[in-house]
Amino acid sequence: MNYSKLTIVLICVFLTGNLYAQERAALINDHVAVFYPDHFQAASHLPSFALVEEPVEQGALPEDWPVKVEFSEAFGKSMAFIKTDLQTSLYGTGESTGPLMKNGSTRVMWNTDNPLYRRDQNLRLYQTHPWVLGVRPDGTAFGVLADNTWRQEISMGEGILFSSDGPAFRVFVIEAETPQKVVQILADLTGKMKMPPLWSLGYQQCRWSYYPDTRVKEIADTFRIKEIPCDVIWMDIHYMDDYKIFTFSPERFPDPENTNAYLHDKGFKSVWMIDPGVGSYSVYDSGTDKDVWVKTKEGENYVGNVWPGPCVFPDFTQEKTQQWWSSLYKDYMAKGVDGVWNDMNEPAVFDGPDFTMPVDNVHLGGKEHPKDIHLRYHNVFGMMMVKASREGILAANPDKRPFVLTRSNYIGGQRYAATWTGDNAACWEHLRMTIPMTLNFGLSGQPFNGPDIGGFEGNATPELFGHWIATGAFFPFCRAHTTEGSDNQEPWAFGPEIEEVSRVALERRYRLLPYYYTLFHQASVDGMPIMRPAFFADLKKPELRREDQIFLVGADLLVVPKWADQPALPGGTWRTISLVGEDSETSTYQPDLKQRGGSIIPLGKVIQNTEEFTNDSITLLVCLDDAMAAKGTMYSDGGDGFEYQDGQYAIDAFTAEKSGDNSVKITCTQMEGKLSDADRYYRVGLVTESGIQYSDWENDGEIEMPLVH
Ligand code: NOJ
Repeated sequence: MNYSKLTIVLICVFLTGNLYAQERAALINDHVAVFYPDHFQAASHLPSFALVEEPVEQGALPEDWPVKVEFSEAFGKSMAFIKTDLQTSLYGTGESTGPLMKNGSTRVMWNTDNPLYRRDQNLRLYQTHPWVLGVRPDGTAFGVLADNTWRQEISMGEGILFSSDGPAFRVFVIEAETPQKVVQILADLTGKMKMPPLWSLGYQQCRWSYYPDTRVKEIADTFRIKEIPCDVIWMDIHYMDDYKIFTFSPERFPDPENTNAYLHDKGFKSVWMIDPGVGSYSVYDSGTDKDVWVKTKEGENYVGNVWPGPCVFPDFTQEKTQQWWSSLYKDYMAKGVDGVWNDMNEPAVFDGPDFTMPVDNVHLGGKEHPKDIHLRYHNVFGMMMVKASREGILAANPDKRPFVLTRSNYIGGQRYAATWTGDNAACWEHLRMTIPMTLNFGLSGQPFNGPDIGGFEGNATPELFGHWIATGAFFPFCRAHTTEGSDNQEPWAFGPEIEEVSRVALERRYRLLPYYYTLFHQASVDGMPIMRPAFFADLKKPELRREDQIFLVGADLLVVPKWADQPALPGGTWRTISLVGEDSETSTYQPDLKQRGGSIIPLGKVIQNTEEFTNDSITLLVCLDDAMAAKGTMYSDGGDGFEYQDGQYAIDAFTAEKSGDNSVKITCTQMEGKLSDADRYYRVGLVTESGIQYSDWENDGEIEMPLVH
């Protein structure tokens, strides 16, 4: 195992520093412990941004608790060290470049606008997740969470070192029998993604920027004419009047209600961008009246340059700012806006030090958060912004599930927004990196994320775009996006071959919607990632620990991109499935989809958008295990709104078992929920080595299929 020079230096610093005893450690529950350093000052860290609530301690830490934390202070850094051994595989750290396994690497937790991931040698990106997941050779696992918003670094080698510019911080340790369980416990502590609207699981088309409104309509029409499934068209900054947030350009979008109505009429939703920087106009005036802006250390409103030129920035630590910000969404959403994209919220400042605002800027705080400097609040600026955005959107449309996409966030931020991995490049290296990036996000508590399909910066070649969309179709967040001035990047922009590749890829995703929706529901209940590393399928197979060319969707579907070079595959039965008539074996682009033996995957129909989605006829793909059995579930509800919280949902369980010598019986039973599935028709697709054998449609909840030997 190689250590980076930085890791070695930091470990030496740790050892030569003022080692001081932890003040105390306590058990939160059987799986969670908290370690406090000496000199811990609650006022510098609490209330925690990471945790949903302050945990109640249950007693002293047992002597044999396996993972301990040591604290130290040296050269102005507060440090926490967790000893691990070389055989432990390390993951997590949220949004990070590089391979899936993080052993031997260092990450800097300082939210940064990082175009092409080039700044600071890739060490820091847009988000902060001070969290490392450790998986031991026997498959048992632990996780360490530094409950610390201040700038910090994480070095991972034979040990995990958190080294912070802020005051001494506490560390939570999770210990469990599997990494899956650790990730679920992390979600108990830091919260779960709220159930998103069904439309946000569809394919989404974006560029910087589609304008004027006629171009937006043309893009939407082309999807429908060409019958390429799509749910959302995105509006980037050019829709605004001179980059003034909450305004619409009178020339480009004179009638946004009309644009939204047009899109809605064709089964699309619209997502529009809102940045934090405010130039000089009515929003500035109303914020200034309420005195909501971040201050310089001298107490003046801080001004920095972003798209509109000189801007002020909301100080979200103050309750009055949160309320004011939320209130801005009322009229805005009333124009028929469906979702909101919060960008540039590290916050990015073009002429600020280190591309942001000075660390000695002042946030005034209030009852909820104390007054403190930007160094403390920088990493949670984006999180506070999206929390206030979400609340405003919900207040404006109380009967709809809010959808917010954010560029910046902090661990626990999945409670408020989905995310994407920022400004990647249209190159093979970045396509390959999308898998470990999305996987580590999921292992850090953020299930709803994905990259810019096609790559943001530069022009994708047809070949690159084809591979990107064929694989990207299976990511939780599925959106193509490209930069200002780049070539067109819609699925049809690369010629007929790639248009067809895109159509097939997206049809595959849309057929899998019942399965994806069930996984999104699971993530909202227990925090399990939607996209999971291959090692989750086989915790004891060492070759899988580094495997990041392939990935699992849920537990039952393995996605093997065409470009995966001799990937390590999990053991057991995995059978190739075809969803829309494609043959992934002969296809140049479509990944091989393999279904796990012992599973049942629910499929819908090929549709053009989620408004067409119905679950009145579901195909159950049944892949039997060696004992000729299989199981699966399906969650369904109205797709939007909150009736599901009053029981208007259904969870159906499916089981397959051998019946006599020559057939298999599949039983469908509603397990939970008031939403009746009595009218639903099912048909079974029995996945065999030689293809899928289909039954007739039935609606009595029991299907018997002959076994072909
Ligand atoms: C930066 C974002 O990362 C990118 O996705 C967006 O297109 C530009 N800002 C313009 O708004």
